[in-house]
Amino acid sequence: GHVAVLYGGLSAEREVSLKSGQEIYQALIKEGVDVSLIDVGKNIVQQLQDAKPIDIAFIALHGRGGEDGTLQALLEFMEIPYTGSGVMASAFAMDKYRSKLLWQGLGLPTPVFQLFQKSQQTTELSPKVAFPCVLKPAKEGSSIGITKVNTAEDFPAALATALQFDDDVLAEPWITGAEFTVAILNERALPPIELKTDRTFYDYEAKYIANDTQYICPCNLSSRKQHELKKLALEAFESLGCKGWGRVDVMQDQAGDFWVLEVNTVPGMTDHSLVPMAAKEDGYSFSKLVLEILATAQA
Ligand code: DAL
Ligand code: MG
Repeated sequence: GHVAVLYGGLSAEREVSLKSGQEIYQALIKEGVDVSLIDVGKNIVQQLQDAKPIDIAFIALHGRGGEDGTLQALLEFMEIPYTGSGVMASAFAMDKYRSKLLWQGLGLPTPVFQLFQKSQQTTELSPKVAFPCVLKPAKEGSSIGITKVNTAEDFPAALATALQFDDDVLAEPWITGAEFTVAILNERALPPIELKTDRTFYDYEAKYIANDTQYICPCNLSSRKQHELKKLALEAFESLGCKGWGRVDVMQDQAGDFWVLEVNTVPGMTDHSLVPMAAKEDGYSFSKLVLEILATAQA
């Protein structure tokens, strides 16, 4: 059958998606798959109608309008099978605020938070969060719009920055400790990766541009802690209804406890990206990983 890689798109993560889509496209060609690339625009309905009939859509879009359930809904309507999570789970995972509410309800550990909304005038940080804190747009990716805030004086400007990217912004306590990410493939957690950067945190620059980020995989956790981390990541993923593949970001505090930050339903697939790295540790080449993800579309 014919596979279309849907990539690019209109979100703030367009540049990342162009890279992910290209890598996926090249891998599928290498594997002899009949494949085309579609740079998703506002006329996506027309683009899908004009394209060679698509048997499977490989979604390589990050952020809103691709990773958030909207495109998934269109594909459902057009009866085109697609990779990854469905409509509801994609929408949930895109929204860090509602993901956290759900995890809290289930008793999964996620940092406490305060919600700020564009429609409100509050710029007062609650003592339950306290400084230093991190401010993040609820529905963004690749750390876009995220700032660490050390003092009350710096808070309003950082809040204004985050509000440029989303009407909902979360403040969470800054966690000093280690950052981990866990790739999920076929309802299984792959080996966790620990991320170390000399920057304040693993931001856009550290993710895609700088070469000084350290990726530690296999990570140095004891096998007991590693098991705990993988179990938590899988629970966080499945509780949102996610399917197929994804990546769960988790912090470990200095007491050794884990805290789920977010689930990504279409994680990066660039040459700097984490899912390919974890898959490699598990014995999958990049193209085998891509075929594995493609196979999740029919499930
Ligand atoms: N949002 C980026 C693409 C990631 O999670 O990898
Ligand atoms: Mg994300």
